[in-house]
Amino acid sequence: MADKKKLTTAEILALARQQKAGGSAEENAASGGESVPEAPPASEPAATPEAAAQQGEAAAPKPPASAPKSTADILAAARAQGGGGKPSPAKPAGGAPKSTADILAAARAQGAKPADAPKAAPKSTADILAAARAQKGGGTAPAEKPAAAKPAAGAAKAKPVVESGDRPALKDMVAAVKAAQEGQPAKLPAKTGPGTPAKPKLPKAEKVTRRSAFPMLLALIAAPFVLAWTAMAAIAGLWTLGMARFMMPNMVLELPFQFKVGPPSDFPPGTVSEKFKASRGIWIVHSDQYNGEDLIYVLSTVCTHLGCTPNWLGGEQKFKCPCHGSGFYITGINFEGPAPRPLERVGLRRAEDGMLEVDKSVKFQEELGQWSDPKSFYEVV
Ligand code: FES
Repeated sequence: MADKKKLTTAEILALARQQKAGGSAEENAASGGESVPEAPPASEPAATPEAAAQQGEAAAPKPPASAPKSTADILAAARAQGGGGKPSPAKPAGGAPKSTADILAAARAQGAKPADAPKAAPKSTADILAAARAQKGGGTAPAEKPAAAKPAAGAAKAKPVVESGDRPALKDMVAAVKAAQEGQPAKLPAKTGPGTPAKPKLPKAEKVTRRSAFPMLLALIAAPFVLAWTAMAAIAGLWTLGMARFMMPNMVLELPFQFKVGPPSDFPPGTVSEKFKASRGIWIVHSDQYNGEDLIYVLSTVCTHLGCTPNWLGGEQKFKCPCHGSGFYITGINFEGPAPRPLERVGLRRAEDGMLEVDKSVKFQEELGQWSDPKSFYEVV
């Protein structure tokens, strides 16, 4: 066993059985012609560690002098020691452990040299790997400093997992270990701090030059002046309109005081015409009851009491004021009610064209003896 050749589990089992039988393979062949049993297939790994344990330390193959270089070698060496430790879970003899759990189980199963193992249980894959390699190399590696253990040659380019206090995820660490086992450079995710928010993108500000700022400054200065001049112009316009209206006098458009009402034949005797009552405020009366003379005269429609407009009542042959009940004869003489005096006459004359022309600019009062004036009647001949 001093040779450097690495033995498989099957070979170890075969040698152990030979040693236990106390004879050689030739004796077995001589007694029963039965040859040395062949190693069980790799698909039955459960029997392999037990057999290796029963063989004892004498028959157990020593680990090769040279240090194994892979995790599979480490696992094989651990199984081969069998120094009282529990066998590792069943694994294919020729297959290398592929997960961190396998590596951890193998390291714990060794237990032969507790003095060389780290006192505290390794907490990371790097620690486990460093402890296993230290044990594999004869306990000379500094197991007390698992963090300082160097990774495999393939993982030399991989940076330490913990460098700035931010620990990567477990799956990244396992991937790094596997990559190191396979001899490939590990790729750890980029380090991102938890408290470093992304910088927001600010909109680009428009470039303000002196040439572009000058019109803005000019407009800012001129704006109050423009507003003031506009307000003053509006006030001046309103003042001009007010002055123009002041120059025009207030007046009421009225009909002329003199107007023609028609020929005398349009007014038969004993009648009162109300044709011009609403428009001109006069009655045209043809009567012979005033002093027995056949006259055409014009009476005003204004009550001499308080100025109301009386109504002509043809059936009663009188003017009746609706306000206070004053009554006037057809001649205009008051006879009832509060009216203090007779109705007033207005001027009348016969024009050159034979038409009767009324003149409201003159008034004739009976109490003053003005009804005798020829301008106050037209005498029918
Ligand atoms: Fe005609 Fe008084 S106003 S009676």
